[in-house]
Amino acid sequence: MASTRFLLPYFLFFFSLTMAVNLTAKRQLRCIMYFTGQHPVAPPIDQLQHVTHVAAAFMRPGIFNQPGRTDWPMFSTVNDVRAKFPEHTKVQVAIGGWGDTEGFSAAALNDTTRKTFAENVARMVTETGADGIDVDWEYPGGNGEDYKQVPNSAKAWEINAYPLLLAELRAALGPSKLISAAVPGLTRDMLAFTRETVPQIMRHLDFLNVMTYDLMNRRDTVTKHHTGVELSLEAIDAYIAAGAAPEKLNLGFAFYTKYFKTEHDTCAGPSPVGCPTLLLEDPVTGADLGRSGGFSWHDTVPEEVAESFGRARGHGVYDDQQGGFYYWDAKEDLWWTFDTPGAIKRKFPLIMAKRRLGGVFAWGLGEDAPLFDHFTALSEGLSGHLKARDEL
Ligand SMILES: *[C@@H]1O[C@H](CO)[C@@H](O)[C@H](O)[C@H]1NC(C)=O
Ligand SMILES: *[C@@H]1O[C@H](CO)[C@@H](O)[C@H](O)[C@H]1NC(C)=O
Repeated sequence: MASTRFLLPYFLFFFSLTMAVNLTAKRQLRCIMYFTGQHPVAPPIDQLQHVTHVAAAFMRPGIFNQPGRTDWPMFSTVNDVRAKFPEHTKVQVAIGGWGDTEGFSAAALNDTTRKTFAENVARMVTETGADGIDVDWEYPGGNGEDYKQVPNSAKAWEINAYPLLLAELRAALGPSKLISAAVPGLTRDMLAFTRETVPQIMRHLDFLNVMTYDLMNRRDTVTKHHTGVELSLEAIDAYIAAGAAPEKLNLGFAFYTKYFKTEHDTCAGPSPVGCPTLLLEDPVTGADLGRSGGFSWHDTVPEEVAESFGRARGHGVYDDQQGGFYYWDAKEDLWWTFDTPGAIKRKFPLIMAKRRLGGVFAWGLGEDAPLFDHFTALSEGLSGHLKARDEL
């Protein structure tokens, strides 16, 4: 039959095209950079070629609760952020951030408030020309900055309201816009991420940015790696166990250091990993007692810890058990925890490959200026990971 003879080449052509698309799809790994108001700096565009998404942080959630809102204040504009990245990089607007939860609670309250919020967000995305949003509610259900002022019991309703808010956002934004969420890295903070809610949540989102950093914070009482391998695996596994597909999860990297004041005698023992800290926050108010801190690679090192940090950089070691770079400064009883470029690269075989995750993200790109050596390590880790995976 003549028609078959003519159709077969077309069939083969489209078949091979699909195969090629499939191979490309297999190669694709998300690489997301938060671009922050605190450090809005990027390296030259030629160093950003593998960055698939940039999330400008932040817009305040509260602005979307006012019906008919038409102005969208941010530290920069979507167009200005877009201009700093390659043409293929998707631009998302991150909404919220640590401590900025009231606007989300007000949005999630009922059907009417959820619709108002979602309609405003959709209008913002259209008017700014963004490719989508990243929802940074820290955290639905409680354990946020105000956890000592507002008990979690008063926020329990948010656990069911959160997926409803995401559903409303998806309905307003449509299937072609990106919607992601930044989600807690400590299981104790995953109040809204259960076997019941995670499948609902994932139905509306393109991916999750699992904040596998700040895994030691001032609510802790023993030393840990703040962005360590074991704790990161615990976080990732919790989302997988609750029903998230590994391909939809992005592993979080921190381009900043953290330090904590410890006791002396126990920490001076055989290992300072897991040794007691001093009391780091007021148990009643949650206020910072000034015994811990951190700074990004772009910040000036605070004078009071500069010498200690010098020792940490010079003499820090990698803990092969828990997976993390650390230094315990016996002179000042300070525990230092941060990722070196080497520690960043180890996460690819130890986490990305083992759990077959769909991508990485970092807080944040400008935090690594001016050297961008941690960003470079992340880029090299990614390409090494892709190569190893394709050779399988
Ligand atoms: C594309 O990949 C999917 C799964 O990754 C597979 O099921 C499908 O058969 C592939 N299609 C082609 C044309 O190779
Ligand atoms: C939703 O909450 C708002 C704000 O408290 C209130 O004004 C409104 O009446 C509520 N609507 C419904 C349908 O409950």
